[in-house]
Amino acid sequence: MQHNAAFTRDDVVTAALEIGVDRFTMGKVARRLGVSTADLGRTVSSRDDLLVACLERVSADVTLPSAGLRWPDYLRQLSDSLWDVLDANPGLDHTLIDLAWAYVPFMSVAKRAHQALVSGGLRSEDAYLALNYTLSTVLTSHQQAAAMAETIESEHQPGRRERGIDIATRMWDERFGDSGAALGMRRSHQLHGGDDADRVPFRPKESWLDRGAMAPKLEVIIGGFSSLSNVLSSGAGGDGASRGPSPASQSNDTRESSVNTLVLVFHPNISESRVNKALGATAESLGGNITVRYMYDIYPDFNIDVATEQAALLGADRIVLQYPMYWLSCPPLLKKWLDDVLTFGWAYGSTGTALHGKELLLAVSVGGAGSAYGREGAHIYTIHEFLRPMQGTSRVIGTKYAVPFLSVGALEITDEAIARRAQDYAAVLQTAELPMLDIFG
Ligand SMILES: Cc1cc2nc3c(=O)[nH]c(=O)nc-3n(C[C@H](O)[C@H](O)[C@H](O)COP(=O)(O)O)c2cc1C
Repeated sequence: MQHNAAFTRDDVVTAALEIGVDRFTMGKVARRLGVSTADLGRTVSSRDDLLVACLERVSADVTLPSAGLRWPDYLRQLSDSLWDVLDANPGLDHTLIDLAWAYVPFMSVAKRAHQALVSGGLRSEDAYLALNYTLSTVLTSHQQAAAMAETIESEHQPGRRERGIDIATRMWDERFGDSGAALGMRRSHQLHGGDDADRVPFRPKESWLDRGAMAPKLEVIIGGFSSLSNVLSSGAGGDGASRGPSPASQSNDTRESSVNTLVLVFHPNISESRVNKALGATAESLGGNITVRYMYDIYPDFNIDVATEQAALLGADRIVLQYPMYWLSCPPLLKKWLDDVLTFGWAYGSTGTALHGKELLLAVSVGGAGSAYGREGAHIYTIHEFLRPMQGTSRVIGTKYAVPFLSVGALEITDEAIARRAQDYAAVLQTAELPMLDIFG
């Protein structure tokens, strides 16, 4: 016991976690810190307050699998990480099962895991379900493993301690094993129509002390969601607001075979458009691993669903921002999309690595003629110079900045020239190797 007059709230949380989230009392925590229970009131207001702080600490310490995994591998690694967290925090499994609200402090972790599953190829609604099944399986398997590992005083040999698994094995054998015959219990062959006891998978195994009982259940979950997504992706499917296959509804084979491309079209009036309408339609016609989303259709009220947008970005290898140049800049919804979606800690900042390594391509239509841009032209600056804020944004969010696809003279462009531009756009979208610009290019 330490005597600590200047203890902090953090110290109190650490002490409670060391005792166990399901069994700490304010008295035990105080004794561990060498202070009185009344002193604890300086840093925590109640046991529930302390419990929330404990759960928040655990939640902040959860290490999620790295991004970029296909969803089955992500689920496998996620279940391992969660098992490690439960191992490190005795009693957490009980708390999460027994206490209705205990999962709430873990929601930001769950949200990140959900996004990673979606970007790994699972439909959004399936990703929620898969997370739910996986968490339940990890929790109950861990709780049972902990019970199997716990030692209690043996009824048979007083003074000796026995593990739960040893007691369960002895009971099993007494009832169903060879020794069961002497007790008049059913024999193994009576259990399962001629199967022997080894083939009935309920005789306790040492592997159950670790994740041995969880792993096969997880594979059943993965198998179930695999067949579910096959059924869904082979169906006709409606197109909804996204006007094309959603990232999650694309078949796994297609996604793995080429560059996963997300085209976000920001045009305030696409039905009146000539250039962007043609380019968007061309991109849509390519189908496969190219998803086109008409952002003004999806967000007519400018109320952007950040989680959906971030999930869509995570699922892409190549992000295309397609828009007309407006006032030497971009339409307002694109600006708001940048502000809302590229958040600190996600797209930038020390932990904001979600978009690192992805390609960013601007596809911009420009009303003025090419000659209007540059030192001799009416606008003095080049188009690339006007696009610098986007290029700088690309550097901040860690994307690779491709040579922009520009359609100049868009106000007076002929139908034939638009058709040629659309063909060029198709080629650019389908190429495996986009030409890139360096930071001063
Ligand atoms: C509000 C507004 C601002 C615009 N600002 C510019 C501009 O700064 N420079 C330019 O070259 N064209 C400008 N334009 C022209 C558009 O870029 C052009 O109409 C568009 O690229 C044509 O593509 P669309 O057929 O897809 O509509 C502007 C148009 C509007 C409506």
